[in-house]
Formats: sequence, C-alpha cells, structure tokens
Amino acid sequence: MFYYFGRKKQTAKHYPKPIYDKIIEPFAGSAAYSLLGSNWEKEIFLIEKDKRVADIWHWLIGEATPEKISALPDLTVGEKSTEFLHIIHAVTKMAFAYKTIKATPVLIRNWEISKRHMAENLHKVKHWKIVCGDYSSAPAEEATWFIDPPYQNQGKLGYAWSAAMLDYTELARWVKSRKGQVICCEGGEANYLPFRPLVINKGVAGRQSKELLYYKVCGDVEERGIQAQLRDHDSARQADHVEDRPL
Ligand SMILES: C[S@@+](CC[C@H](N)C(=O)[O-])C[C@H]1O[C@@H](n2cnc3c(N)ncnc32)[C@H](O)[C@@H]1O
Repeated sequence: MFYYFGRKKQTAKHYPKPIYDKIIEPFAGSAAYSLLGSNWEKEIFLIEKDKRVADIWHWLIGEATPEKISALPDLTVGEKSTEFLHIIHAVTKMAFAYKTIKATPVLIRNWEISKRHMAENLHKVKHWKIVCGDYSSAPAEEATWFIDPPYQNQGKLGYAWSAAMLDYTELARWVKSRKGQVICCEGGEANYLPFRPLVINKGVAGRQSKELLYYKVCGDVEERGIQAQLRDHDSARQADHVEDRPL
C-alpha cells in the first residue's frame, strides 16, 4: 500500500493465489500480497509488531479518506521531516532508525507516487483488520497465511523488530503448525524450513537477490482445487525473473 523496505509489491504475483476466503498476514509491513489483484476483496487480517507501521494501517482503515491523503503536504528538496510515513519512503535498511529525514528527489518522488496510490486504493482496505502485536498472537484459523518475516540473514537491518530478534526455530515450528494454505517467504540461504527457489529479483546496479518459498496446503479445502493451485503455481513460476521497480 505504501513504499516499505522488503515489501512484496513486485514479487507478490509469483506466490500461489489465495484459495481461502480469509488471508492472514502476520508480518504485515505494507501488505502487498493482500492488496494484489482481487485478493483485497477477501477478509484480510494483518498483524504488525512495529506500532508506527500498525498506526499507519489504523489510520488508513479508519479515518483516512482519499481527500485527506491527497491533502497531505508534498515535500520539497532539503526539507526535514520527522513523520514516520515520510521516513519509510526512503526505503533503506536503516529507515526505521531515523528520527528525521531530509527530503531528496527520490524520496519526494516516492512520496508523490505513494500518496496517489494510497488515495486510489484506499477503498480496498476499509474492511481490513489490523492488530499491533507479535505474529504468534494470530488466531489459529484455517486460512491463507502469507508469512513474510524479516529475512533470516538481515541481522539488525530493515526493521525495528528485526531478524536479530526472531527465534527462527520457533518460527519454523509455528509456520508448520498453521492450518490451510501456508505461504512463507524468505531470501538467500535461509534454512529453517525446506524452502525452494521462487524467483530471482533484479535490483539496481545489476544486484540480484534470490526469493525462496515454503508452501504447504493442509485442511478442508477441496482436493481438486488444491491440485490445480499447485500445478498453476509450478508452471507459472518456471524461469521467473522480476525487475525490482517502483510502483
Ligand atoms: C518483510 S516485512 C513484510 C513486508 C510485507 N510483506 C510487504 O509487502 O510490505 C516484515 C514485517 O514484519 C514485522 N515484524 C517483525 N517482527 C515481527 C513479529 N515478531 N511479529 C509481527 N511482525 C513483526 C516488521 O516490522 C516488518 O514490517
């Protein structure tokens, strides 16, 4: 919904389509998967541990209107801002730690694009639910689970609640115990679940990063539907390469 470090805006389409009426994203961030295509029409339940991020969602789901978003001031080059919503638009591994940010042309552009995107898509999130809390507090329901934690190799970078604070052995146990359609994202050489390669992300300056997927379906959904999903997903992801472009 907004620019965010590690968001799945470009890669969301490569994950299996949701087969349940409810999507739970226990590591919400900017919730790109729930917003993708018609996914947003489902019952969406987000959990996010960083209160500043959860507060953005509370505002978007609650008080915000397209008019209020469009009326948010633009930034000018060199201007300083202490607004967290501005700061995350820098999309750097350290943004979460900044108290103030100085507007650069890139930040200004990201903010302009994001304002327009949020105003145009706001109606999609008005029925969503957001809870500020730990992923482990998610309801133990049979649903489509889109689990996108801080990546194991990121250490203290990226988020206030970073990889360094997560117990990945416990996360693996929790992921395996989910019921329904379980999609867990990772990158690089993560090893706490039997991940398989999903796509290669092409970043700036020829940098590449490998996206990994852990996927299982267990529950009451019709077997035929599940098989079709798995087949579609496997053929769609063959030789996938995605460009890491802005909105
Ligand atoms: C990789 S990002 C999610 C990106 C998201 N899929 C998107 O499209 O923007 C991971 C998110 O998990 C949050 N997080 C970290 N530890 C958490 C925890 N224990 N419980 C819930 N959320 C947590 C971080 O603050 C961050 O927003």
